Amino acid sequence: MNLSADPAGIAQAADLLRQGLLVAIPTETVYGLGGDARNGEAVASIYAAKGRPSFNPLIAHVASVEAAQRFVTWSDQAQALADAFWPGPLTLVLPLRHGHGISSLVTAGLETLAVRVPAHPAARAVLTAFDGPVAAPSANPSGQISPTTAAHVLAGLNGRIAAVLDDGPCGVGLESTIVGLADEPALLRPGGIALEQIEAVLNTQLHLHQPGDALNAPGQLQSHYAPDAPVRLNASSAQGDEILLGFGPVDCDLNLSASGDLTEAAATLFAALHKLNETGRPIAVTPIPDHGLGAAINDRLRRAAAPR
Ligand code: TXA
Ligand code: MG
Repeated sequence: MNLSADPAGIAQAADLLRQGLLVAIPTETVYGLGGDARNGEAVASIYAAKGRPSFNPLIAHVASVEAAQRFVTWSDQAQALADAFWPGPLTLVLPLRHGHGISSLVTAGLETLAVRVPAHPAARAVLTAFDGPVAAPSANPSGQISPTTAAHVLAGLNGRIAAVLDDGPCGVGLESTIVGLADEPALLRPGGIALEQIEAVLNTQLHLHQPGDALNAPGQLQSHYAPDAPVRLNASSAQGDEILLGFGPVDCDLNLSASGDLTEAAATLFAALHKLNETGRPIAVTPIPDHGLGAAINDRLRRAAAPR
């Protein structure tokens, strides 16, 4: 069922969540597959709908800092980041608070919880109407390309969810940046807010995931965001049957941003991968600078290109 992002649609989305059903919700990053984070059966059906390995924990979405503080132990660093970037594309991993009431399926048994206050008006309206924590992974079958439109959601999950709240394409287009604050501050996943911005607010360097570290954001599996056909990175031109995805002033089949704007490229990345995937041809991608949002774009592309 397609709901529109008007008061009736928002009320119905909140109502479906209350019944323990799944609703795909637009956020500024990607569409999320939402379910009541306190309801174990609802959360189990999120994993089932996505075909997601159950060791991979979910982000709890809430309407405000005050709501987040009910579930996690807050800190000065959390407050500084929330002041700077919430509502917005930043997820904080903090120690679970006693009596939190969150289903252990959300945390996959960890003693920490990932929380985020999204900025998207429709997401905020649903969270306010529902008045509880909503667990929401990206609304795509596990391992596949993340959805930035309601059509992407339905292409992957139609028949497995109660509804999608359709409010057009997502503005940021890349998942949230995940910062771990349970130990020393760490970047657990690059995303919609650049590392440089986070380090400037905390006035410290974040611990970065090193190859060989235990996977600290367990969802950071190597192969993810994968189109059906192979993906080749840092290509200077297409070879054989390849279709070329470009960035900046290059000759290509589809350009993430002809003017070389990383924010625009982030916003168009997943839609571009969905579109190229439909051609069935192998995909080659020209180099993308690795600073600012480029780091998150390259992270997604490396996973899209990883051996399956
Ligand atoms: O932008 C986003 O973050 C989107 C929208 C819907 O909010 N959501 C999203 O969720 O990307 P998902 O499930 O695709 O990715 C969540 C990531 C996973 O890599 C997971 O392992 C990590 O968050 N995560 C969740 N809880 C964690 C925890 N307690 N400790 C470390 N990593 C955690
Ligand atoms: Mg995902």
